[in-house]
Amino acid sequence: MLDYYKEDGHKDWVHKETGASVLKAQHPEFELYSQGIHAKSGVACVDCHMPYQRVGAMKITNHHVQSPLLNVSKSCQTCHNIPENDLRARVEGIQDKHMQLRNVAFDAVVDYISDLKEFKDVDLAKTPNPKLSEAREYQKQAQFLFDFVEAENSTGFHAPQEAARLLGLSIDKARKGQKLVAELRGQQTQSSDAKKEIKVEENKVETKPPAKK
Ligand code: HEC
Ligand code: HEC
Repeated sequence: MLDYYKEDGHKDWVHKETGASVLKAQHPEFELYSQGIHAKSGVACVDCHMPYQRVGAMKITNHHVQSPLLNVSKSCQTCHNIPENDLRARVEGIQDKHMQLRNVAFDAVVDYISDLKEFKDVDLAKTPNPKLSEAREYQKQAQFLFDFVEAENSTGFHAPQEAARLLGLSIDKARKGQKLVAELRGQQTQSSDAKKEIKVEENKVETKPPAKK
């Protein structure tokens, strides 16, 4: 998925605070749902979302999709011979776990972005720095993976395992990026140390009393 966007050279906007180009995820319901158990079992969107008025294929971009939990008996119990409260509890259990991991990923991405802000004024076109361009790429990926899951409105229910995989990858990209930031900071102190040394040398020359003969 990311590879596709990458090959395409696709970028939606440039992050103001870090200079990284980032992607925006749009309508990922279908992509995520298709990785879940219901899609694998041939259950369609309409089976859960519009069981009362079967209107052929539901438009994926329909923003007025109702929560099936408003009518569990019609949305779920047609297939699941499980009491309504148990079904709700299963959905909530999936969604709770999803939110825990989602919050961890959110913190990881936000922390990483705030780390990268330090380097926002570096124009890679003028001063190329492979580490920094890689670090910005990690931001793009971490953010995209997170947004992709976040933009999906079922709070993990459509495909819990796939959502967790993507959030895990997002955390991994942020972590790898942070490692690079640590290295970039190392580069900075090294070069400013080098500058300091030069200054010290210059000072030495200036303050040195004329050599006695
Ligand atoms: C097995 C049943 C099921 C199937 C199939 C299913 N969904 Fe869902 N969907 C849910 C549940 C459960 C929620 C979470 C509702 C909640 O949290 O109140 C949800 C939430 C949503 C939401 C957010 C709705 C809201 O009120 O916030 C959208 C949009 C959505 N689904 C779209 C789709 C699309 C598009 C498909 C097919 C590609 C699909 N769903 C397939 C069960 C299903
Ligand atoms: C058209 C039939 C159908 C409908 C409607 C349906 N399901 Fe399912 N559901 C299935 C099938 C088939 C499976 C897979 C069972 C299996 O392979 O063990 C499944 C699996 C599940 C699982 C287990 C998921 C897992 O990963 O183990 C849960 C939870 C679930 N459904 C909840 C719901 C809820 C909540 C609704 C209503 C919003 C719903 N289902 C609507 C057919 C349906």
